Amino acid sequence: MTAQLLDGEKVAGRIKMEVGDRVARLAAIGRQVALGTILVGEDGSSAKYVAMKHADCKEVGIESVHVKLGQDATQDEVLDAIRTMNADPAIASILVQLPMPNGIDEGQVLLAVDPEKDVDGLHPMNLGKLVMGAPGPLPCTPAGIVELLAQHQVQVEGRHVVIIGRGLTIGRPLALLLVMRRPGCNAAVTVVHTGVDDMASLVRQADIVVAAAGVAGLVTKDMVKPGAAVVGAGTSWEGKRLMSDVAEDVAEVASWITPRIGGVGPMTRAMLLRNAVAAAERIR
Ligand code: GUN
Repeated sequence: MTAQLLDGEKVAGRIKMEVGDRVARLAAIGRQVALGTILVGEDGSSAKYVAMKHADCKEVGIESVHVKLGQDATQDEVLDAIRTMNADPAIASILVQLPMPNGIDEGQVLLAVDPEKDVDGLHPMNLGKLVMGAPGPLPCTPAGIVELLAQHQVQVEGRHVVIIGRGLTIGRPLALLLVMRRPGCNAAVTVVHTGVDDMASLVRQADIVVAAAGVAGLVTKDMVKPGAAVVGAGTSWEGKRLMSDVAEDVAEVASWITPRIGGVGPMTRAMLLRNAVAAAERIR
């Protein structure tokens, strides 16, 4: 079997069209959609991700405002930048790029963002809404993965998903989302992580594997049940090459697989746009 590709670029393109229409409808009644981003420190890949998000915004007609703080920024300076954006009525949504440099408390940073403007869905209030099943902005990568599978008609409901990784931005919220009784979810979910003894034997039981560990080639062919769908959500760098958590030869046994580039990444960015326009639509 050679796996079919879970084409994130194609699906993201469709979502961008939808967002562009929504932005235009707001513009027609004199309302602008603006996203504020805050980048702290000198991490090259974070800077690249933020730049891509600004380019995406431009493509769909969303204004974007950027604040850059240095590697030596203090906690107070970061919180001040967030409070300034919270108070700015022209900014409908805010993204603080993670990870923060050492010495900055990420929990406090996420808590400081106005939950109404939280485009990442990572404010504790919005994570709480996810736990409760109440409407609210969903974290972008988990929402993007669910949408990517749904758009390729990969059946998730009633099946067993194994998520590798328990991080705040992907693994933990994805597990919460996938167990919800809602279309494209309603799955049995197992989360495995570095503390689990025999990860491979659990992964082998999955109908759908989502690798979100940030370890290149972590999921190998022998760990995947033939016919399973495999999503690489974690990334890492080998020099200048962006690596997937999923080894290339997994395509020989999987039914569906994300490409090394153009799978989950574009979906995360598309969901951010969707959350940004939704935040602007909520303003009365
Ligand atoms: N860094 C890696 N993933 C994310 C994400 O989903 N949101 C933010 N703000 N930063 C990230």
